[in-house]
Order: sequence, then structure tokens, then C-alpha cells
Amino acid sequence: MLRRAVDPLPPLFGLDERIQQRLPWMSLIARPTPCHRLEHLSRRVGADIWIKRDDLTSPLYGGNKARKNEFLFSDLAANQRNAVLTMGGIGSHHCCSVAATASTLGWPAMLVQFPQPVTEHVRQMMRWQQLWKPQRVLARAEWTLPFAVLRGWNRLEHLPRARPGLIWMGGSSPVGTLGYVDAALEFAQQVRCGDAPMPARMYVAAGSGGTLAGLIAGFRLAAFPVEVIGVQIVPSPAITRFSVAWLANAALELISDAAPDLEIPSVSRAEVRLEDRFLGDGYGSPTPEGVAARRLVWELEGIPLEDTYTSKTMAALLALSQPQAGPALFWNTYNSAPPPPLPPWQDLPQAYHQFYRD
Ligand SMILES: Cc1ncc(COP(=O)(O)O)c(C=O)c1O
Repeated sequence: MLRRAVDPLPPLFGLDERIQQRLPWMSLIARPTPCHRLEHLSRRVGADIWIKRDDLTSPLYGGNKARKNEFLFSDLAANQRNAVLTMGGIGSHHCCSVAATASTLGWPAMLVQFPQPVTEHVRQMMRWQQLWKPQRVLARAEWTLPFAVLRGWNRLEHLPRARPGLIWMGGSSPVGTLGYVDAALEFAQQVRCGDAPMPARMYVAAGSGGTLAGLIAGFRLAAFPVEVIGVQIVPSPAITRFSVAWLANAALELISDAAPDLEIPSVSRAEVRLEDRFLGDGYGSPTPEGVAARRLVWELEGIPLEDTYTSKTMAALLALSQPQAGPALFWNTYNSAPPPPLPPWQDLPQAYHQFYRD
């Protein structure tokens, strides 16, 4: 696995110096993340399969959210915020990443969460989030989330000296999406300097859509003609080609505002490729082909996936990639840092104990 000693600044800043001056950013990740061939898996399935290791973005808590947090937390700090509220499912990796980052900055974090199918992985994630001692509010169901957000906001606001700011679900605001515009530029650079081949197709999990939107926008910006397939892990209309194109264009507009005379492309709905055939029964419900893909990748490559996002994405790659078309790339968005010793579930607020009783 090759890591080049390159400039640790986001490649996005290399486009124009005003971008660095005008866009919020703080250094939270190790870049570039490695990119390599999955030798054993490729041999087993008779294809040329590569991986982008965003599981290694951060030893603290890796995965895709750390890239978004570089822009999101800096934006909050620039707006004099010093506490953060975000929301997600009870097993949310996003919530874990936000709680981890807030804790390193010494900020209180409030997680407003809704129930999802309870698997062992979800139980582990709730304890992992608890490691960073966030405040929590549990909504009864996803549709009651707005009321729970108000309760959480109120509690956070009443902490001494707290000036709370909001990070949207999944970190998929235009500012958060910049993290993946930058990731696309990073990958294009890796291909251009020979660390990876030009993939025929790339597969990435699509939930709140910021990761996919940022990649599409960044590849347009880099004039890098790769086909990106967003594998849906939520049903439409929670994600649509419209919402992804909107986010991509909103992120590109931020770059254009920072450097107005730079030629910035726009993304049309027709350019967004969403694949919904691997979703199964819905968000957080494991699928048999996803579970099989997760086991195969673990057995052959020793890389952990999980059943909400990345196993479904790998299942899509294995089913859809055409070996004769050229290399397929799996963009790994799940943290692979092993869990540190986690607090017992009894440390979670009482409302969460129901998820640990069979
Ligand atoms: C492991 C993992 N992969 C992919 C995603 C989806 O990213 P996005 O919400 O940007 O679509 C998430 C979101 O929570 C995630 O936790």
C-alpha cells in the first residue's frame, strides 16, 4: 500500500489561492488515503477491483464523514459556534464522527437520533458514540425528529457558554459536500501520477448524498471522466437525482463564490447515477447479497465492511461490474480503525437500554 509524501493541504486549494483564503477548513484527516488493488477478491471473482481507502481517513474515527468534518467544523468555528447538534439513526457513523471531532475540539455535542433495525453493529455503534460522552435525545421515530431536534437544541443552548451550531444529517450540506469535491481531486491526482488505473466505474454508498454529490462535482471540476454509481441505502425520495445534483451545484457555487473568475462547471440531473436494486427492505436492513459480500471481503482482504452502507455497495459492484469494461473501484466509506475499549451499554441514557434487551 503506497502513501506518497505529498502536500497535506486539500488539492482543492491548489486550484486557486483564494479558495484556501475564503473557504473554511481545518486539518482532520491523513491525505491522500491509499488506493490499491484488491488482489485476492479480483482473483476470486475474475475482475480487476480496486479500493479507495477512506476507511483510513482518521485513526480517531475514519470513514467518509471525517472529510466532511474538516469543512463543517471549521465553518461553525468561523461563525463563533462552540457546540454542535447533529442527527442520525441510533447506529449512525456520522453521529460517531461528529461526537469524536467535537470531543477533540472540547465542544459539547448533542446527538438527536431515531430508531433503526437493531443489529450487533448498531449496538456497537451506540457504545462507540458514547465513548465521546455526547448528550443525546432519542426520537420515537424518524418522523418525530424535528420535535426531538428542538428539545436537543434547547438543552444544548442552556449549557454554560455554549453557542450551538447545526450539522445537517449525514453532514450533507453544501459546505460538507466540499469534503468530497476535494476527495475527487485527490483521487484524480492519484490516477494521474500512476498510483491507480482509470476506473471504468466507481461505486459509492449514497445515503444523504453528500459523498456522491461531492465526487460527481469534483470529477467534473477535474475534467476526469469517470462514471460514479451511487448505491442507494435509503429509498427515494430520501435521495434523488435532483437532490444529489442540487448539492453538487451548491458546493460548486461555494467554490465559484470564493474564486469568481475560475471556470466552474455545473452538474445536471442526468449525470447522477443512482442504483436502488441493492437496498433490500430499506435503511439499515441487511441483505443476503450484502452480508455475503461483507464476509467475502473480510475473508479475502481483511477489510471490515458493515451492512447498512458498504456491504450493499460492494454487492452492487460484484453484481454489476463488467470485467471486460476495465477496472472497477469501490470507494470505502466505512471506518476500519478497530474499536478502542468501549463503555458498557448501561452508560447510555435510559431511553437507549431498550435496544440492548432481547
Ligand atoms: C459508512 C458510510 N458510508 C456511506 C455513507 C453515506 O454517505 P452520504 O450520507 O454522504 O451519502 C454513510 C453515511 O452515514 C456512512 O456512514
